[in-house]
Amino acid sequence: MKKILLLGDIHANYPALKAIEQYIRPDRFDWIINTGDFTVYSTFPNETIKWFRKRKKAICILGNTDLRVLRILKGKKLKKPSKEEKRVMYFWTSENLRPKNITYLKSVPEQTEFTVGGLRIGIFHGTRLDPDEELVPSAPETRYRQLARGPAFQVHIMGHSHVPFYKIVDGVHFINPGSVGRMFDGDPRASFAILNVGSGKISVEHFRIPYPVEEVVRGLKEQKLPDIYAKMYRIGKKLN
Ligand SMILES: [Fe+2]
Repeated sequence: MKKILLLGDIHANYPALKAIEQYIRPDRFDWIINTGDFTVYSTFPNETIKWFRKRKKAICILGNTDLRVLRILKGKKLKKPSKEEKRVMYFWTSENLRPKNITYLKSVPEQTEFTVGGLRIGIFHGTRLDPDEELVPSAPETRYRQLARGPAFQVHIMGHSHVPFYKIVDGVHFINPGSVGRMFDGDPRASFAILNVGSGKISVEHFRIPYPVEEVVRGLKEQKLPDIYAKMYRIGKKLN
């Protein structure tokens, strides 16, 4: 039996990541997956990246927010997002990332795969076909069928929608652990999942755990970042 910790959409919320670490002890896992969006919207991108950088068992991909930060660092123009309060979060992140973490982020792929007990597991930020797709459990069955076809991944681990779910379509397992650090559903607790794989069998457990939200609020206030984010973290909802 292999135990795999599924994390994603941390968005630089290190207090939430630490709370998960204290709750589950990551060292007992065979792998630690991160479905992307290490950065942006809270003030701990360096602590978050370092946490993964120092773990040999970590398998990470980039998300759309990380790609935009890398774009800024390359001196390219940032077309999206257009809202000033969002842009400020991206520029703050790119200005405050430490060189070692920038080098690491540049080395992380946009999608990857690995094999456990004969099962081919793909890791995608959005979906296998579109890194910006926000796949939710209520998406049409036909979309799941399309994703299940083609390259024979038996398991798809995805992020981006921030919606935790587990669904089996045409024998293919679709798992989203939800967002560690930026909730959209009105529940401010951190979300993550555990995937157990053994002799062809799969089981998934989802968790929601509390974390010190006020540490995130304090970080935002200290850096004089838009007040709307403090409110978002407190209520666990997207407001912009
Ligand atoms: Fe995200």
